[in-house]
Amino acid sequence: MTVDIVILAAGQGTRMKSLLPKVLHPLAGTPLLQHVINMAETIPNSNITLVTGYASEQIKNSVVGEDLKYVHQAEQLGTANAVQMAAPNLNPDGITLVLYGDVPLISYKTVLSTLKVVNNNTMGLLTVVLRKPDGYGRIVRDSKGDICEIIEQKDANPQELEINEINTGVMAIRTNLLQKWLPQIKNDNAQNEYYLTDLISIAHKASIKIQAVNPDTPEEVEGVNTRKQLSKLERFYQQEQANKLMVNGATLADPSRVDIRGTTICGMDTFIDINTVFVGEVKLGKNVTIGPNCFISESIIGDNVEIKAHTIIENSTVCDGAEIGPFARVRPGTVLNDNSKIGNFVEVKNTEVGKNSKINHLSYVGDSELGKDVNVGAGTITCNYDGINKNKTIVGDHSFVGSNVSLVAPVTIGVNVTIGAGSTITKDVPDNELSLSRSPQLNKSGWIRKKKKK
Ligand code: UD1
Ligand code: CA
Repeated sequence: MTVDIVILAAGQGTRMKSLLPKVLHPLAGTPLLQHVINMAETIPNSNITLVTGYASEQIKNSVVGEDLKYVHQAEQLGTANAVQMAAPNLNPDGITLVLYGDVPLISYKTVLSTLKVVNNNTMGLLTVVLRKPDGYGRIVRDSKGDICEIIEQKDANPQELEINEINTGVMAIRTNLLQKWLPQIKNDNAQNEYYLTDLISIAHKASIKIQAVNPDTPEEVEGVNTRKQLSKLERFYQQEQANKLMVNGATLADPSRVDIRGTTICGMDTFIDINTVFVGEVKLGKNVTIGPNCFISESIIGDNVEIKAHTIIENSTVCDGAEIGPFARVRPGTVLNDNSKIGNFVEVKNTEVGKNSKINHLSYVGDSELGKDVNVGAGTITCNYDGINKNKTIVGDHSFVGSNVSLVAPVTIGVNVTIGAGSTITKDVPDNELSLSRSPQLNKSGWIRKKKKK
C-alpha cells in the first residue's frame, strides 16, 4: 500500500526569536525539516508532501528531496487545516502518515511500527509517557483502556492535566477515512484552531481502534519550540554519533566534546582528542590520531595518520601515515600521499604532495604538484595567482627547495633539483641542476654604524 507522508511545516516558530523559519534551524548542521525529509525518504512506497506557510519560498530553496510536493497553507488555522490543504491530493486507497517539521529525530523504526498497525479498522498513534507532560496534548483512555480522545493542554481540566501519556503528533490512518473526517473537524476550542487531534474522538465514535505505538526514546519525538529545546536535542544527537564512533573502535577523549555534522565513519583504534568538529562525509582509517581543536570536512583520512592540534582539513584526501599540523590548513582539492608531512603554519590548496615529501614550516603551496621525497623549506611560497589566473607549480621527485623561496607560477622544477634559499624562481629548472637567484652579498669592512646624538 502506498504511504502519503504529510510533513507539517507552516509555522513561524515565534518562540525561537529568529528571522529564520523554525524548521530551517540546523541540528548537527542540517535543517530540522531536512532531518525529517531524509528519514521520510527511506519509507518504502511513499510520497512526501510538505505543508508550508511562513517563508515557504525560503523553505523550498533550503531543503532537498526527490520529488517533494508542496502545498501552501495561507493562514495557520490549526494542524487539521494544515493536513486538509494536502488532503485532496492524497491517494484515497493508501495510508497517510503525519509528521512534523519541528520533530527532527523521529526514527525509521518508530515510523514503520506506527504504519504497521494501520488497517481498515485501526489507526496508529505515536504516544509517549512523560514525567513532565507540560504543553502536549493528553491521551484520554476510556474504561476499557482504549484511546478515545486527545485533549490539548489549553483545553484540559485539572484531572486531564494529570495524564502523563501525551500525543507526539505522529499518526497514521487510512487516507479515505482521513479525507472523510477532516471536514468534520471544528474550531470550537480554547485556541479557535482546527485540531488534527479531534480525529481521534471521531475515529473512536466510528468504532475505529486507535492503536498506541511508543518510540524507543522520548527524544525521538521531542519537538523544537525554543532554542533551549534545540540545544538539548543537538546534545542528544551528538552523544548518539559519538557512541557510534566508539562502537566502531574509536577512543574519544570526551564524547561530549566532539561534534559530528554529517556522517563520520572510522576504523579501529582511532583516537580523537577534544573539540574536533567533523562536517559532511568524513572517513577516518585505522589508528588515526586527531589532536585537540581540529576541523575536518568532506575528507578521506587513511590509516596511521597523525593530525595534530588546531588543524583544518577540507575536501581533501590524506593517505596512510601522513602527518599534519599542528596549526596546518589543508584546503580543498589537496591530496597528501603516503607518509607525507605538512607542518605548522603551512597552508596547502589544490595540491598533490608526493610520498614522503615534506613541507614542514610556514609555507603556502597552492595549485601545485610535488613529486615524491621533495623537501620544501620554511617560508617557501608558490606565487600561483597573477591577479587573473591561477597558475600551476610542478616540483619533480627528490628535489630540494630551500627556505624562503618564491616559486612564480607557472613554473616547472625538474627531478633532483636544488633551489637555493631566498631565490625567486620565474623560469623552469631542468633536472639535476642547482638554481639560485639572489643578489650578491656585499660585506663592507671598517663600517661604523651611526650613533644617536645625546
Ligand atoms: C501539537 C498537537 C499536540 C501534540 C504536539 C506535539 C494539535 C492540535 N496538537 O500541538 O497534541 O502534543 O503537537 O508536538 O495538533 N502547523 C501547521 N499549520 C498550522 C498549525 C501548525 O503547519 O496551522 C505545524 C507547525 O508548524 C508545527 C506543527 O504543525 O510544525 C505542530 O503545531 P504546533 O502549533 O506546534 O502544535 P502544538 O501546540 O505543539
Ligand atoms: Ca509544537
